[in-house]
Amino acid sequence: MAVDLHNYVASIPDYPEKGVVFRDLSPLMADGQAYKQATDQIVQFARDKGVEMIVGPEARGFIVGCPVAYDLGVGFAPARKKGKLPRETVKAEYALEYGTSELHMHKDAVKPGQKVLITDDLLATGGTIKATIDLVESLGGIVVGCAFLIELDALNGRDKLEGYDVLSLMHY
Ligand code: PRP
Ligand code: ADE
Repeated sequence: MAVDLHNYVASIPDYPEKGVVFRDLSPLMADGQAYKQATDQIVQFARDKGVEMIVGPEARGFIVGCPVAYDLGVGFAPARKKGKLPRETVKAEYALEYGTSELHMHKDAVKPGQKVLITDDLLATGGTIKATIDLVESLGGIVVGCAFLIELDALNGRDKLEGYDVLSLMHY
């Protein structure tokens, strides 16, 4: 029987700074049934899209994307924070709900024309995912969908994703 994934989200007020409610997904990831259910829902979303590669931003995008890639039998490419990738990269800068950052991908991480699904744990302002989309597209990849466990509706991240097929398993 399916579980309610909301029961596996811990909400922590004023973390990491005052005014932010942090949605902690570690209880979901610690529970085999909930983690598998969430993964299966994303796999189902991806199935008819001809996905050839999953891309996820560091760090929590890896946790969501890797089991999806394994299930689909496709590869996974990380979008990583500054100074982590050893070969030539492309980069994109972005603003976060708290702070700023930049993401990099290896120049050969996605092949031109490859169909890519982007995964992350959470959509907040959309800065991270838009930077990831920009990286994939700058390499010639085709973004066929973006999948999240949680979307924070009040932060309007979806506005940055107009024209993309977006799945969010939970809304807060
Ligand atoms: C968090 C989260 C998303 C991003 C969402 O990552 O995992 O990637 O913020 O925010 P946005 O929609 O406003 O860009 P964070 O940068 O904290 O990194 P982490 O996964 O390494 O903790
Ligand atoms: N990343 C950005 N905003 C977040 C939030 N409110 N909870 C968890 N991760 C986040």
